[in-house]
Amino acid sequence: ILCVLRGRKRRAGEPPLIKGWIPFIGKALEFGHDAHTFLEEHKKKFGDIFTVRIAGKYMTFIMDPLLYPNVIKHGRQLDFHEFANKVSPGTFGYPPVISVKFPGMQEQIKRSFQLLQGDNLSTLTESMMGNLMLVFRQDHLCDGPREEGGWRSGSMYEFCNSVMFEATFLTMYGRPQAASRHGGMGVLREDFVRFDNMFPLLIAQMPIWLLGQTKAIREKLINYFLPHRMSCWSDTSQFIRMRSELLDQYDTLRDVDKAAHHFAILWASVGNTVPASFWVMYYLVSHPDALQVVRQELHDALRLAGVEFSQDRDVTLGKDQLEKLVYLESAINESLRLSSASMNIRVVQEDFSLRLDGECSVAVRKGDVIALYPQSMHMDPEIYKEPQSFRLDRFIQDGTMKTDFYKDGQKLKYYLMPFGSGSSMCPGRYFAVNEIKQFLCLLLLYFDLQLDEDQSRVSLDNSRAGLGILLPATDVRFRYRLQV
Ligand code: HEM
Repeated sequence: ILCVLRGRKRRAGEPPLIKGWIPFIGKALEFGHDAHTFLEEHKKKFGDIFTVRIAGKYMTFIMDPLLYPNVIKHGRQLDFHEFANKVSPGTFGYPPVISVKFPGMQEQIKRSFQLLQGDNLSTLTESMMGNLMLVFRQDHLCDGPREEGGWRSGSMYEFCNSVMFEATFLTMYGRPQAASRHGGMGVLREDFVRFDNMFPLLIAQMPIWLLGQTKAIREKLINYFLPHRMSCWSDTSQFIRMRSELLDQYDTLRDVDKAAHHFAILWASVGNTVPASFWVMYYLVSHPDALQVVRQELHDALRLAGVEFSQDRDVTLGKDQLEKLVYLESAINESLRLSSASMNIRVVQEDFSLRLDGECSVAVRKGDVIALYPQSMHMDPEIYKEPQSFRLDRFIQDGTMKTDFYKDGQKLKYYLMPFGSGSSMCPGRYFAVNEIKQFLCLLLLYFDLQLDEDQSRVSLDNSRAGLGILLPATDVRFRYRLQV
């Protein structure tokens, strides 16, 4: 027992070990409070590789981005899915995807991700455009209460959430057969936000019964996706249809289990996309010069494609046109760089020596976690000059996307990692970037946009550090009016 309380001792060849003085909890509280600062301070003291005891787990952080490729390429000895399989089922409420109980499921789930990419991306992108237009037209282009000069006021996060949540939902899951939109979307969204607020605690494996109403809210959200309801929806994406079919192959899955799988995908598809859309909109609206450049690029692209824009007709911006919008893409990359804080986690499968750099290697133990924390790289002044500021052309070189960024004079293989890496890379990343582009294009085509004056700069809410795109600490008031 004494040994467990004291924790382990550092062995030869292992990185410096930081245990904290509270048994079990170790450094969890400090880490949870501000992970980025915590890691930067430890890096200064202990170098680029160190092991920290966090909530009973030994986590080895690799801080030098030049070493990232050595971790990312180690598929067999460093596994991602062991970690995901441990935390996702408890968070979303489905039974663990283990191969003895559900043979072949893991592989089929992986295969379903292809339906978010390649040729299927065009169909999804087209469908998203229609759904964005629908929500825009019915909720924001119609007549509504206006102030002087035709301006309307809004809260920016709330605005992004209402449009992106619903348009993404319709694109992935489809719509009721007799209607263009689902009734009760506002309530679904509110429930989702309440669940999402508890998300960091659930991922930290806090028992759901300790979290007040969260269990009942999650049940309500899951029930939305029960098979008898989903079977009445039309225009469902091929991705979701394939997942329904694959879940139907397993007799031991109850209807609520299948519904919980669909709910998890809802979280994956909007949980990061909504805050990411917010940050792009926020940075552009708060940098009017940048906004003007992106707007001009968009008008030029439409003109080149022979599309005449008029407010009464729906616009279509397909995959090929979106690819040409390099300034908009740079604005998205720059916003993701400034707001993403996802941790890349791998679980060590056996004791071994992890080779890092030339002769340098570190010993790691079975069951330990190896972690990359790309926010440290995103905020490194050597890689990104003045890392705190938004620069529209940060990712542009000679009119195309810039891909060479350097550390210690060496070109980085990985320099922007909002979507994870290697085996745990987000399969929805191309769709996500396209839908954010489409959303911004519609905003810029239809509206003049302004921030309300006298608001302080928005800061990041760090409560989900490690888990994806951070939310803003407060919402932002803005004004918009139809362009004349
Ligand atoms: C996984 C980020 C949008 C579907 C991930 C992971 C990250 C991420 C970092 C890896 C998690 C890990 O390493 O633990 C993002 C960001 C998005 C976004 C920043 C938006 C800006 C989307 C969208 C979809 C999606 C739109 C679906 C339509 C998924 C799925 C996984 C995943 C299914 C799990 C993959 C697996 O289990 O191997 N995402 N994502 N994501 N994402 Fe995304």
